[in-house]
Amino acid sequence: MRDFRRTTHAMTGLANDTFIRALLRQPTPHTPVWLMRQAGRYLPEYLATRKKAGSFLNLAKTPDYATEVTLQPLDRYDLDAAILFSDILTVPDAMGLGLRFVEGEGPVFDRPIRDEADVAKLRVPSRESLQYVYDATTQIRRSLVRGDGLQRVPLIGFSGSPWTLACYMIEGGSSRDFLKIKTMLYRRPDLLHQLLEVTTCAVIDYLTAQIEAGAQAVMVFDTWGGTLAHGAYQKWSLAFMERMVRSLPREHDGFRVPSIIFTKGGGGWISDIAATGVDAIGLDWTMDPAVARAVVGQRCALQGNVDPSILFGTDDAIRAEVAAALAAFDSPRLPGHVFNLGHGISQFTPPAAVTTLIEAVHEMTRADAPVAMT
Ligand code: CP3
Repeated sequence: MRDFRRTTHAMTGLANDTFIRALLRQPTPHTPVWLMRQAGRYLPEYLATRKKAGSFLNLAKTPDYATEVTLQPLDRYDLDAAILFSDILTVPDAMGLGLRFVEGEGPVFDRPIRDEADVAKLRVPSRESLQYVYDATTQIRRSLVRGDGLQRVPLIGFSGSPWTLACYMIEGGSSRDFLKIKTMLYRRPDLLHQLLEVTTCAVIDYLTAQIEAGAQAVMVFDTWGGTLAHGAYQKWSLAFMERMVRSLPREHDGFRVPSIIFTKGGGGWISDIAATGVDAIGLDWTMDPAVARAVVGQRCALQGNVDPSILFGTDDAIRAEVAAALAAFDSPRLPGHVFNLGHGISQFTPPAAVTTLIEAVHEMTRADAPVAMT
């Protein structure tokens, strides 16, 4: 048995540590739930803050605003974790690529990486250039402390995976076919490798600084790992994420800081993902959770994996889907499940549907909670 005090947050003053415990495969009094993109455009209060800030980027770059929008979904819903409000593209922005968000088009880089000279110029960004992220992290962590001195829920930090960041850096924005990066992969693998090396060092420093600033768990978003072929995924995405996971501080202030890898479309590779030593694996909705559990056993926690479109269903349909997902994960009987969507929540989601989902997860898992918490 591991020393309980060192692996849990029982003594940290977390009022609700179910999320951290689930990531560490420990029993919890209910199945914890949070939602990818839980702070965002489906919430009218988010849109109001974004309007005040003037733009998404100014919102993300101003710690007061970032703190405000991080807390918005927690004030509305009984969520079990907070996630830093920021974006994965802050890192390439700080590497000098010039990030803009174009309405209806998504992110655009003014100076994408196209050739050898561009790659040669890339450097790990200074801590100062991303200080606004670390300041927001510290401010959010403090704002999570209630009047009685206990922290409401843990705070998640995050970054993009090197491969996913490279997709945006080379394509210059969102892409349908990823032809530019795949052309580089098969014509100039040396260049792509060099880019991924620098970017890996950058995200390791980025997540380390977030942990030092107060992030209590970290998640790596590998949104575009699933566009790679079998074999190419292991070489061009997973190997770099493995280096990240192994280089991050496992503990901070004496407490374990669990890590999560989410490769969208990566269901076929979870055995390889588990072998990186990561604490938890994010699953999208194409994966059968029972199969995932059979593959990884209790080596890793599993997070996911409900289709975000169930939130457009009736309340009864949402409850039925929650029940089915819990059964598929055998949650809460088996420890190590964090309830989540299989990808980010849609901006068109009715906010009331989220209440239905979260209440259903808690009600259905509290009823036969495996262990009473004291
Ligand atoms: O989950 C959260 O609540 C934390 C905040 C968060 C955002 N982006 C805020 C955001 C997180 C974790 C991200 C991660 C992110 N960003 C990913 C990985 C996860 C995923 O969705 O696959 C990716 C690929 C990005 C890059 C990015 N940022 C894109 C492609 C876009 C535009 C897409 C869109 O939905 O319009 C963004 C912008 C963005 N990041 C928004 C938010 C709330 C919307 C911006 C707005 O308010 O206009």
